[in-house]
Amino acid sequence: MKKHIVIVPGDGIGQEVTVVGKKVLDKIAAKFGHEFTYDEALIGHVAIEATGNPLPDESLEKMRNSDAVLFGAVGHPKYDNDPSAKVRPEQGLLKMRKELGLYANLRPIKLFDELLSASSIKPEILKGADILFFRELTGDVYFGERARSADGNTAYDTMIYSKYEVERIARKAFDAAMTRGKKLMSVDKANVLESSRLWRETILEVAKDYPEVQLEHQFVDAAAMILIKDPKRFDVVVTGNLFGDILTDEASQIAGSMGMLASASIGDGTGVYEPIHGSGHDITGKGVANPMASVLSAALLLDISFGLKAESEAVINAVDQVLKAGFRTRDIADATTPADKILGTDAIGEEILSRI
Ligand code: IPM
Ligand code: MN
Repeated sequence: MKKHIVIVPGDGIGQEVTVVGKKVLDKIAAKFGHEFTYDEALIGHVAIEATGNPLPDESLEKMRNSDAVLFGAVGHPKYDNDPSAKVRPEQGLLKMRKELGLYANLRPIKLFDELLSASSIKPEILKGADILFFRELTGDVYFGERARSADGNTAYDTMIYSKYEVERIARKAFDAAMTRGKKLMSVDKANVLESSRLWRETILEVAKDYPEVQLEHQFVDAAAMILIKDPKRFDVVVTGNLFGDILTDEASQIAGSMGMLASASIGDGTGVYEPIHGSGHDITGKGVANPMASVLSAALLLDISFGLKAESEAVINAVDQVLKAGFRTRDIADATTPADKILGTDAIGEEILSRI
């Protein structure tokens, strides 16, 4: 198979982990006889530094003309401490999502058995948890109208959804539920928000086409609680952009670390694959970042965008073998991990590569 992939490392540890993700794609191409060609594109703080624009048109064009994008992270602490900054790295990410029409963000919460003890949740509560989040990605308060009053003392952001936006993400989630345990939880705040009432109404309409799927509605506050109390109750979850952002960070702790979680952002065109973690400036440049989320994002890319199931499984299996061999990065190590098994980004990357 011949495919063209654009690598977009972005900021901070995005630069470090994406190198490993790309090496994994190279290894897969060599092992399975595929031909992958690559290009690189700028986004985020590095793009602002180089061009003044967090997502230059050139980057967007490269992405549009590719078969898939492997993305790292965006962000820089400089902007976090300057709320008045007009140009911000995150604008690049949001623009990429909107321009590429990436309305569905899949965040699988996959728990490797070896990491049961890396979570702060009790192993007996965790074991067997396997959740697939569908976070809507191009609507909600992220893209609604926002403004600040003339005196600067009042501000608003609009939580807004249109029916077609709910319907298309709902269909993706119901379709996925049919291939899994036929259980879907829709998360909203319909006891308070009008946009959530539209959300729920639409979910109920789409549900008519999926009579086999057992549908449950939860308010987001209750869902946040159940996620920690009884994560096994979840199978497929569908929710809006903001609730999904928050719940998936929470759910990352089920997998032990944010450093383990991959995501796929898909829509009608090119798909973008990325770790759910951010740019990690506290550990940038130290060579200790966990590259597994990027590696597992590459696995999702192979599976979802290219339909290469065996190749994708080979990658996941290699990560599993590395964990079984006892190797850990710092974020997933615990008191029982021998010092010589705690590896940096490149070294654990090599362990993964040698097992593909
Ligand atoms: C994510 C991130 C982004 C988001 C930030 C960096 C804008 O937290 O991908 O989850 O809020 O969507
Ligand atoms: Mn987030």
